[in-house]
Amino acid sequence: MNYIEWDSSFCLGIAAIDAEHKGLVAIINELHAAMKARRAGEEVDAVLDKMCAYAFDHFRTEETLMERYTYPGLDEHRAAHEEFVRIVDAMTRAVSPLRPMQVQHFLDKWLRGHVLEMDAKAAAFLKSRGVR
Ligand SMILES: [Fe+2]
Ligand SMILES: [Fe+2]
Repeated sequence: MNYIEWDSSFCLGIAAIDAEHKGLVAIINELHAAMKARRAGEEVDAVLDKMCAYAFDHFRTEETLMERYTYPGLDEHRAAHEEFVRIVDAMTRAVSPLRPMQVQHFLDKWLRGHVLEMDAKAAAFLKSRGVR
């Protein structure tokens, strides 16, 4: 069973963003499975790296759309993306037995907080400008 099941509550109504969020959920599930199976640190690091690279591309997709339509919340949103990259980067380098729990807690909170709040707000704005 997946750690996070994709459901319609994650659907923000913008095809490119939804598709990438689906990919992000898949990588988070992969990461969870790796940690649950107590795989070696390097294997978990590899999935964390993959997630970081994926998130980086995804943030570019969102920021490009927000720039194109002069979204008023762009600076705040961009700062939240930068913070995510900073935290994940720090977690990648952390050597603590608590790391799996911390990573899981952070991603869980981030997915519900950032995607369902900040991304949802930006998506509503973009949809009002005709983006689908
Ligand atoms: Fe997003
Ligand atoms: Fe975002």
